[in-house]
Amino acid sequence: MAEGTPLFKVTIDGRTVEVPAGTTILQAARKIGGEVTPPAMCYYSKLQGSGGKCRTCLVEVSKGSDKDPRPMPKLVASCRTTVMDGMEVKNVTSEKVLDARAGVVEFLLINHPLDCPVCDQAGECHLQDLSYEHGKADTRYEFQRRVFEKHSLGPYIQLHMTRCILCYRCVYTADQLTNKRQHGILDRGDHAEIATYIEKSLENDFIGNVIDVCPVGALTDRTFRFKNRVWFLKPMNAHRECPNCCGKVTLWNRGDEVFRVTARKDEWGEIEDLPDGKTAWICNECRFEKKKTSDWVIEGPREINRHSVISQGHYVNAVVPNETFPEVMGREPRIKLQIHDVSEVNEPDRNISLIEGPAHSDDFKD
Ligand code: SF4
Ligand code: FES
Repeated sequence: MAEGTPLFKVTIDGRTVEVPAGTTILQAARKIGGEVTPPAMCYYSKLQGSGGKCRTCLVEVSKGSDKDPRPMPKLVASCRTTVMDGMEVKNVTSEKVLDARAGVVEFLLINHPLDCPVCDQAGECHLQDLSYEHGKADTRYEFQRRVFEKHSLGPYIQLHMTRCILCYRCVYTADQLTNKRQHGILDRGDHAEIATYIEKSLENDFIGNVIDVCPVGALTDRTFRFKNRVWFLKPMNAHRECPNCCGKVTLWNRGDEVFRVTARKDEWGEIEDLPDGKTAWICNECRFEKKKTSDWVIEGPREINRHSVISQGHYVNAVVPNETFPEVMGREPRIKLQIHDVSEVNEPDRNISLIEGPAHSDDFKD
């Protein structure tokens, strides 16, 4: 914050925060955190110029400022609207916002295929989360959906244009991180598509970051495609001395096998900042070429939001449920039996929890 920047008070869904002048409503809401924060499909704080495309972050400004308390006549995009002193904003407390957001989700899903069961992004897809939280259960759309051929953009990246929501994040990433952008959005309206024009491959050292910024499964890692579901993998923080980038990554392992490498993401799904304030973008070599555990210094398991499906089966910061016996009985039970020893169902020499893979009929008594 530049010295002398005044602080403005803004209240979002009844919670007040003080932020420097020039802060957007979305950034102020992120400072408060939780439900107060509007979803964002196109805005990405690390990319200049992002935001203003998808309208998922719409909010209602019920009081413009202390000086001019009139409400804003229309819902505004919180990622592009800066706060004023004394501003009051409604996000989840506004019926209008929830209704508009459901409409935006419906629009985004008009052409998006419902192929989550076979999409590599499932489990970490922002559109999937958005439609669970704000979408409607059915669709009113009766026309044919827009479909495109799949393209391989060079050796590492697969483009599934049919899933793209035209958020422009990958275009800004290529513009701001690589020397020469080779892809962009061609055509307009219903025909708009991400394209490399004459199928030029994207070969720049940092182009792999487009996979991390893509909120849906339109850009996926060809070295990982269909190899595993993310919720079966164990995310680990790891680093290496890399001459090209910060070398700080998340490894997605199953056992000792590295299935994929990604940049480290924060609670908003954006690539984290390094201690020096720079963004921890990673290079293609770290992302696509270093697929052995021995290539990395493992720091430990990565903490994943416990509401994410990915956190299933990982036990960092797990909330251990209370012992129910004393709670229900009002005292410790006098005797506890080991179910395995007394069960009439298992074969006595089989411990179901120790066998490899699923149990079969042989493991149980007839
Ligand atoms: S490919 Fe992904 S990142 Fe690029 S515009 Fe489409 S949805 Fe956004
Ligand atoms: S996140 Fe604000 S318009 Fe897309």
